[in-house]
Amino acid sequence: YKRITVKTLVDMKANGEKISMLTAYDYTMAKIVDGAGIDVILVGDSASNVMAGHETTLPITLDQMIYHASSVIRAIDRCLVVVDLPFGSYQSDPKEALRSAIRIMKECGAHSVKLEGGKEIKESIKRILNAGIPVMGHLGLTPQSIYKFGTYTVRAKEEKEAADLIEDAKMLEKIGCFAIVLEKIPAKLAKQVAESVSIPIIGIGAGNGVDGQVLVLHDMLGMTHEFNPRFLRRYMSLYEDMTTAISQYVDDVKSVDFPNENEQY
Ligand code: KIV
Ligand code: NA
Repeated sequence: YKRITVKTLVDMKANGEKISMLTAYDYTMAKIVDGAGIDVILVGDSASNVMAGHETTLPITLDQMIYHASSVIRAIDRCLVVVDLPFGSYQSDPKEALRSAIRIMKECGAHSVKLEGGKEIKESIKRILNAGIPVMGHLGLTPQSIYKFGTYTVRAKEEKEAADLIEDAKMLEKIGCFAIVLEKIPAKLAKQVAESVSIPIIGIGAGNGVDGQVLVLHDMLGMTHEFNPRFLRRYMSLYEDMTTAISQYVDDVKSVDFPNENEQY
């Protein structure tokens, strides 16, 4: 594929090709991720944790999301870019939701937005879709409602919660979402959801019976090291490697090993 669109993702599911997605929040990282062949970059509100050091995703603002997303957009040539609507930018009413989505599309040149929740935000999603803005849903563990649950444990283990989740997924498909993220739910349930809708289901901690996977970039690169959920696979140990490199630099400066004859004018 030369350029990934929302249509490409739906075709990928129909053809049984899995979808790869990672987060990115800045130009330099996004350029590497896009160049490596990722299908989708999510400018996640996890920037609140990863970039800003907040404990939750709630504090990040729409302006801050726009800053991150516009940096990412400048870097990419091929992948689809999805931008999270942050907490407080869509929950009040559908008009506010549409205004926030429009700002993301206009001020960043983003390709689509993602909102957390099911039937509670149905009217907001419909209004955004009516404006021609593609929407990705997000069900299961929804970090913006962490204070309602109190923990980040696996969701939808009870039958009622599982049934509600399937119903929400079907509703999101029906109103026109192009894909759904399912976060931290039993693999069996996630597979069942993926089989009951024709739009792609992208999982994080949702097993391999879904249509694609997403991870937080800094987690899979091993830059963060205090977050160790079972679903996280680390492909590098950058925390250790960067620490080694930086302390070597410190030593080299102290010992006047750096810069040497060739590294000066
Ligand atoms: O903000 C984020 O990184 C996300 C993914 C975990 C799906 O929403
Ligand atoms: Na998010």
